[in-house]
Amino acid sequence: MSSPIILSTMSLLNDLSGLFGDAFASIGLDRAFGEVSFSQRPDLGQFQCNGALPAAKPAGRNPRQIAQEVLDLVSGDERIAELSLAGPGFINITLTDEFLAIELDALAHDPRLGVGKVAEPLSVVVDYGGPNVAKEMHVGHLRPAIIGESIKRILRFEGHHVTGDVHLGDWGTPMGQLIVELSERTPELPYFDPSATGPYPAESPVSVADLQLMYPIASRRAKDDASFAEAARQATVELQDGRPGYRALWQHFRRVSIDAMRDVYEDLGVHFDLWNGESTVHDRIQPMIDRLVGAGLTRLSDGAIVVDVADEADSKEIPPLLLAKTDGAYLYGTSDLATIEERIEDLGARIMVYVVDVRQSLHFEQVFRASRLTGIAGPRVVLEHDGNGTVNGPDGKPFKTRDGDLLRLADLVAMVIARAQERLDENQLATGYPEDERDRIAHLVGMSALKFGDLHNHRTSNYMFDIDRFTSFEGKTGPYLLYGAVRIKSILREAAERGLHGGPIVAADRDPERNLMLRLARLPEIFERAAEHRAPNHLAEYIYELVADFNRFYEVCHILSEPDVARQGSWLTLVQTTLRQLELVLDLLGIEIPERM
Ligand code: ARG
Repeated sequence: MSSPIILSTMSLLNDLSGLFGDAFASIGLDRAFGEVSFSQRPDLGQFQCNGALPAAKPAGRNPRQIAQEVLDLVSGDERIAELSLAGPGFINITLTDEFLAIELDALAHDPRLGVGKVAEPLSVVVDYGGPNVAKEMHVGHLRPAIIGESIKRILRFEGHHVTGDVHLGDWGTPMGQLIVELSERTPELPYFDPSATGPYPAESPVSVADLQLMYPIASRRAKDDASFAEAARQATVELQDGRPGYRALWQHFRRVSIDAMRDVYEDLGVHFDLWNGESTVHDRIQPMIDRLVGAGLTRLSDGAIVVDVADEADSKEIPPLLLAKTDGAYLYGTSDLATIEERIEDLGARIMVYVVDVRQSLHFEQVFRASRLTGIAGPRVVLEHDGNGTVNGPDGKPFKTRDGDLLRLADLVAMVIARAQERLDENQLATGYPEDERDRIAHLVGMSALKFGDLHNHRTSNYMFDIDRFTSFEGKTGPYLLYGAVRIKSILREAAERGLHGGPIVAADRDPERNLMLRLARLPEIFERAAEHRAPNHLAEYIYELVADFNRFYEVCHILSEPDVARQGSWLTLVQTTLRQLELVLDLLGIEIPERM
């Protein structure tokens, strides 16, 4: 995993780590030991510095003694209210409310809310989505779409130049199978006349529904019927070699499929910069193979061209990457290898992130190794398979319909929106609003349920799809967060109507207020962690805690009726900052907030 250089931000932890680092340095120890983190035990202190423990051993000293010396050195600092030594050498730190207020004020005035940016923006490609032409999108496509979209937004906000590529499966044998299947059903179509060269009709001879019906039939036939399989193989080769009728027909397959995919992705709020696919790199493949063969980087194995990727240090067997079969056909890995080359050459890609099912990890291991061994990807290029787990049903297996089929993604989306609609009714929300606004709110509530239900899990773990829990307005859910955000918006609207404005942040004088401030100060670190590990779940968890802290704050801090004008102004700034963080983080998760509910 790469660790991008973050421009130093106005992060509280950076400041504190600097202070403690100086103390370590002045007693002759590495300043890195001064690293301060938020406390795991808020009852003992707001922050902690545990560096004395790892510092002790190499220095041959007692950790408690080191901690005591560091503590003595920083104890005069006016930013610090309280210090205590615990256990074998932990230092607990509590800040003065005045200092916390100054930090928060700076954060509140920062357009980036304290979140850092990379010093060196790189060209990043996020490969996610990965649906196949002519094949119905199903529940398995949900996580790559949602997680990939979020990772794309996070890396973009971090300052990188990010390109999202859907990377369609649009070039393999299923295309040949469909061509043959269609040629038997409608031989009179002009696409099948071998001597014709076009032009061909602009209108597709098939709808996406036709294709989705034919796809499983054709793939079954290819398994059961050797002559059909052979014809399909032949058609695939001819398609790839550029037979005009087949290319024209395939363009229709691609077009109608993309139109249908776009609708589903649009509903999910998932947007791609590139609609490339396996076919995009077709013209690169033969030259690439020739070059690798010429350079002696390949081996013939039973007539197939392979790249050995096994390593002595491997604990399990990593089979060679197959580049071309005996009949000359290319494979999934061949196009992925050529795509790495293309992304480096055409997009200057320095980081490639693949958000694809974890079950494809061997495939990516082979492809990545092959790209290194062949020099296609130099040492500076980062290649990551950031795999995703599955969405499971109550039986713990990948989610199915009652008939045992994989659930269509479009049906899943519709189901969640319908449930969100019911939830709004149950909670008497959005009642009396215009019909189209209500629909829009139900859509956003449904999508928040689906996305938050997904993203608050670590991307590699599997989770159970539980529509009732996900759509609830209570608990750790998307709708709970949206409701919280909408409520904050209405508080701010009401304040504005009364002519009240945010003012400088003043020192907190009660716990819920202090806790909200401490929470808001954490975003820079949480963001950094989410970006570094490509793990949106850290942001999802954060935003839930933020709303919970806000609710506790709002319960005791009666903003609109507060007589102390300075305090009232400070609170309003805290409310605004909470909303801005909510908007930012939800946007990074791909979740949109309605204006009201
Ligand atoms: N279409 C592939 C599948 O259905 C996923 C593509 C993922 N991206 C990639 N570059 N291999 O499994």
